[in-house]
Amino acid sequence: MDYKRGLLKTLMILLTTVQLFWPLVTSCRCAIKHPQQLFCTAQLVIVARVENITLNYVTGETGKDLYPVGSIESVTYHIKVQHVYRFERGRGRRRAIHRQTTINTPGSVYDCRVSLLQNTTYILTGHIRRGSLWVNSCGWVEDMAKLTYRQRTGLRSFYQDNCRCQVRCCTGSQCLHTTSARTNNQCMMDTGIFSCYTKYGICTYKRKNGQRGCVWKENPQIKQCLTVWGK
Ligand SMILES: *[C@@H]1O[C@H](CO)[C@@H](O)[C@H](O)[C@H]1NC(C)=O
Ligand SMILES: *[C@@H]1O[C@H](CO)[C@@H](O)[C@H](O)[C@H]1NC(C)=O
Repeated sequence: MDYKRGLLKTLMILLTTVQLFWPLVTSCRCAIKHPQQLFCTAQLVIVARVENITLNYVTGETGKDLYPVGSIESVTYHIKVQHVYRFERGRGRRRAIHRQTTINTPGSVYDCRVSLLQNTTYILTGHIRRGSLWVNSCGWVEDMAKLTYRQRTGLRSFYQDNCRCQVRCCTGSQCLHTTSARTNNQCMMDTGIFSCYTKYGICTYKRKNGQRGCVWKENPQIKQCLTVWGK
């Protein structure tokens, strides 16, 4: 009897644990990241227009345990590249990006699928896998028409010029400690108001407290945004 109860208890604990952690293993989760960070850490940063969309289904031959046959394994976007801001060339990797090319994304939202619209121009940060370009929803994927003026200037030069600077997320009073040696190459981004920083912030390397370091570039938009939020 005791043995059975023990087994039942173990089973219940196991079930609860699986339930608790199931969302973690099944859904796409991305840390909050600043566009400058996404720009500087991506293998690929392009502006491209989506011309056509192809859904790639899992067939009997390519079927894996993860995706049942008949489900969408990946989506291929046929794109026209308008600008290449960043492209890491490396041994065994593609040498150049053609004007007409394709970029892939996982077939499931749980694997961070990106949904792009036809005839729309996007900023895309991505990576290169086995010679193909890939993008997922943890990267910077945004309709170019929705970018702010500061994001456009960031893209043009400021992000690239300041890749030595890192944006670090903070909450509450953590955000006040911005002057130690450890944080000298970092700009702090308060996660409570991160959109002020992502929309208008550029973390630049300049003179700070008598030495050189990274600070948020001042501009009226970020000032106003922070004021609205009482910062
Ligand atoms: C778009 O893709 C479909 C399916 O791959 C293809 O049949 C069609 O010709 C493509 N259209 C253009 C304009 O490329
Ligand atoms: C995209 O543009 C093409 C060519 O101009 C047009 O035929 C097609 O209907 C458009 N698709 C969408 C979804 O707007």
